[in-house]
This record gives sequence, structure tokens and C-alpha cells, in this order.
Amino acid sequence: MVSVLVTGGAGFIGSNFVRFALDAHPDWHVTTLDKLTYAGRLETLHDIIDHPRHTFVRGDVADASVAAPLVRDADIVVHFAAETHVDRSILSAGEFITTDVFGTFVLLEAAREATHLKRFIQISTDEVYGSVAEGSSLETDELKPRNPYSASKAGADRLAYSYFATYDVPVIITRASNNYGPYQFPEKVIPLFVTNLIDDLHVPLYGDGGQIRDWLHVNDHCRGVDLLIESGINGEVYNIGGGNHVRNVDLTHRILELTGKTEALIRHVADRQGHDRRYSLDTTKLQALGWAPRARFEDGLAETVGWYRTNEWWWRPIKDADPAFRAYYEKQYGKTRV
Ligand code: NAD
Ligand code: DAU
Repeated sequence: MVSVLVTGGAGFIGSNFVRFALDAHPDWHVTTLDKLTYAGRLETLHDIIDHPRHTFVRGDVADASVAAPLVRDADIVVHFAAETHVDRSILSAGEFITTDVFGTFVLLEAAREATHLKRFIQISTDEVYGSVAEGSSLETDELKPRNPYSASKAGADRLAYSYFATYDVPVIITRASNNYGPYQFPEKVIPLFVTNLIDDLHVPLYGDGGQIRDWLHVNDHCRGVDLLIESGINGEVYNIGGGNHVRNVDLTHRILELTGKTEALIRHVADRQGHDRRYSLDTTKLQALGWAPRARFEDGLAETVGWYRTNEWWWRPIKDADPAFRAYYEKQYGKTRV
């Protein structure tokens, strides 16, 4: 059995990856290490938590007593665990440094001592390039992160590289664009807007809504990571982008159409501080290994809206009943803003 450690596997992309990996690799045993922060939920793993080739460990990546033995036992580490929401990093950045930077350091230190580790996949993000006015970012472009989240991810990204360059840890770094799909926490724009609209609530569109994101279906992201485990080159960085560049205002109109609601529900609110205008990735390097995104955005978005419609059991306890989420929501949007 190949021993695979997935950190952050109770979150959005991590859980999709664990599901994908158990299905695609009958010779893998997957261990999920997750702290179960506000964003991590066992419900998200409901169908695979008891899978015979899956073990769940609740723990913090920044706690070496839990994380280091798991890294030392692994053949492959896929490190998704992070604080991930830009708006939360603007409200309070401390946890981003502790988890995204220090937590990555703890895992890398353990990886130095691992005897049979073949891959350490550092899941970075396109946000490390900063706002890209025109053209598309290449892996060799300068990093210009502009918010506490992306700066913490850039720190982890380069720290991971340094452990390859200095200690020969078999690190590969991925920088993906905005993911969408099932089980995304309803603080991020697509699930927030879809679930608000299902309930006839306003959707808070920041600023002029002209910001552009490049949407990547989470399954295509999982396929990209999987291919890199198989065929990537250690020490290299790979962009993973969906090639679907959409303005937020256009995304909002598509979601209104898919939910059958009118634009009267759009509420224009104050812009995010330091809001990155545009992200765009050049994915030639990954495509050269044989990867291409499969999901058409129109279809993927419709399916995703359908998933939130039929899986209210998953998001209603968060949005309607979790006091921590309500507190965040009011702090972020205020009762008057939405
Ligand atoms: P998410 O917020 O949905 O999930 C994060 C998971 O990490 C949660 O399960 C949480 O409990 C866990 N976690 C947080 N702190 C932890 C800690 N200290 N120890 C152990 N577990 C901890 O995030 P996501 O959107 O699934 O993102 C996963 C990764 O992908 C992150 O590294 C993120 O930076 C990166 N990424 C995300 C996107 C995107 O569009 N969502 C795009 C590119 C890269
Ligand atoms: O680009 C990859 C990144 O994508 C990941 O690294 C991050 O972890 C992930 O959170 C995401 O960051 P964004 O800031 O792009 O995602 P978010 O869903 O928060 O916002 C998407 C866009 O929608 C952004 O331009 C801000 C806007 N927005 C967001 C929210 C939550 C709104 O207009 N209103 C909102 O209420």
C-alpha cells in the first residue's frame, strides 16, 4: 500500500481530493490530518470517513507531536491545510501565519527526516502572483502577494522550495486558480451567493464587480495534483488554472439565472480592502504533461448550484445554526450591508 497523507482533508479541496484518490488509486491508503477548524467538518467526509483505506486524524499541522510521525510514515504528502479566506485574513491575520507558514515549516522539518517520502506537494495559490493587470502569470514570474492570506501562502510556497533546494525534500509546488464545486464553505463567493439566493437574501457584490477570477472545477484541480504526483519534477512549480476568466458581476448574473432570481437581490457593498483586480494563469507547463481542464464552466456552475440545492443538509447547519458563522457574517457584512 502507498501511504498518502492529506492535510486539510476535511475542507473543500482536500475532501474532494481524498474522495478522488480513494477512487482512482486502489493501492493507496489515505490518512487525513485535519484540525477541524470552522472550515473543516467531518460531515464533508461523510461518505468516506469509514472507508477501509482511509484513516482520519484530528490534529494541527503546527503540532509536531501529531504531524511529524504521520509525515515520517508517508510515501506522499499532499499539504492542503491552511487558513484560506482572504476576507478573514483582512479581519485578523494571526492564524494565517500560524497555520499557513509555521504549520508548513513543521511538516517540512518532519519531511527532512522521512526515509521513504517520494513527494511533498505544497498546495499554493495563484494569489501569490498578486493582481495581474494583463496577460497570464508564468511560474517564473515575480511573487507580489497583496493581502495577508496570499502573503502567508507565498511564504509557505518559498519555504517549501527552500527545503527542496537545501535539504533535497521532494517538493512540488502547485499554484491553482479559484476552485468551485461541491462542499465549498459558504463564505466563498459562489456558495455564499447560491445559498443566499436560495433563501431570497441579498448577495453582497464588492466594489464595481469588475474583478476577474479564473474558475477551475475542483475535479480538474484534483486531476492536476494527481498527475503531478505521478509525473511532476521535484523542485518545480506548476500553475493549475481553469481558463474561465469571469468578472464577478457576470458570475453573479449567471448565478441569478441558475437560481431563478432577479438582479434586485444584488446589493453593491464597499469593496474588499486591497482587492486584487484580476488573476490569470498560464498553464502551458502542466498541459505539457498531458493535463487539460475538462469541466465547461457553464456546466460545472450549473451542477454546483444543483449540488447546493440538493444538499441543504450540509450547508444549513453552518449558515443558519452555527453561531461562529453568524458572528463572522455580521462582522464582515454588517446587518445593514446585506
Ligand atoms: P478550506 O478552508 O475549505 O479547508 C481548509 C482545511 O484545512 C479545513 O478542513 C481546516 O479544518 C483545515 N485546517 C486549517 N488549519 C489547520 C491546521 N492548523 N491543521 C490542520 N488542518 C487545518 O480550504 P480550501 O479552499 O479547500 O483550500 C485548500 C488549499 O488549497 C489551501 O492551501 C488553499 O490555500 C489552496 N487553494 C485554494 C483555492 C480555492 O479556490 N479554494 C485555490 C488555490 C489554492
Ligand atoms: O485564487 C485562488 C484563491 O481563491 C484561493 O487561494 C483562496 O483560498 C480562495 O478563497 C479564493 O480567493 P478569492 O478572494 O478570489 O475568493 P472569494 O470567493 O473570497 O472571492 C471571489 C471574488 O468575489 C473576489 O473578487 C471577491 C468577490 N466577492 C467575494 C465575496 C465573499 C464579492 O464580491 N462578495 C463576497 O461576498
